[in-house]
Amino acid sequence: MSETTVPIHVGLIMDGNRRWAKEQGLLALAGHEKGMQTLVDVSLHGFENGVQYISAYAFSTENWSRTQEEVSYLMGLILKGVERYLDIFHEAGIKIVFLGSREGVSEPVIKAAEKTEERTKNNTNGTLAICFNYGGKEEIVHAVKQIMEQGVKPEEVTADVIAGALYYPEVPPVDLLIRTSGEQRTSGFMLYRSDYAELLFIRKHWPDMNKEDFNNALAEYAARKRRFGK
Ligand code: FPP
Repeated sequence: MSETTVPIHVGLIMDGNRRWAKEQGLLALAGHEKGMQTLVDVSLHGFENGVQYISAYAFSTENWSRTQEEVSYLMGLILKGVERYLDIFHEAGIKIVFLGSREGVSEPVIKAAEKTEERTKNNTNGTLAICFNYGGKEEIVHAVKQIMEQGVKPEEVTADVIAGALYYPEVPPVDLLIRTSGEQRTSGFMLYRSDYAELLFIRKHWPDMNKEDFNNALAEYAARKRRFGK
């Protein structure tokens, strides 16, 4: 595969964790834990293969409407994930950033996210953007508020100005967006940044996704001709 056909930014909608767990005869929430391990394996593999940015939908603003037990579990998973995997990503030279709102997120989780960002901020081998308490519309609202607070005049507002006010604006547009589990929608993920993303829907549940599936996704991307409306 030639260098230029590797997507710069791959977005991951990690769907199907609970269905996977049920099919394995496990408690539904166990699917999220396996899903986290899958994210670690697949993202490190992606960075090793030249992908520069990987974003992953870990908790959407809609996920608050799940049971209290599941919400707490997913919040706890962030703490567990930082404890378990921060060293691994840091040693691999990967920068980690969290995209989303802090509203409603507990202090320990915010602290863990900040510690992770601070520790990995100078790493240059790739960026893992964890979308946590993230909503695509909320991100655009956040950008608009920022622009207004800065006193930008209406005639100065351009697509680039909006892009520059998104969460972590250095994260570029999504080139390839993968959703597992057979659902064919984007659920607001990277709403502004995925306008020209190539969409790939995989039938497997997220916890079953492996390096080979990721390689196949990269090959599929390389085979597509991106015209950007031309
Ligand atoms: C969607 O599957 C998945 C989620 C709502 C959570 C995704 C979280 C992870 C993979 C863990 C990653 C965690 C960290 C801390 C980075 P679903 O629960 O909607 O499954 P279903 O469609 O089978 O019900």
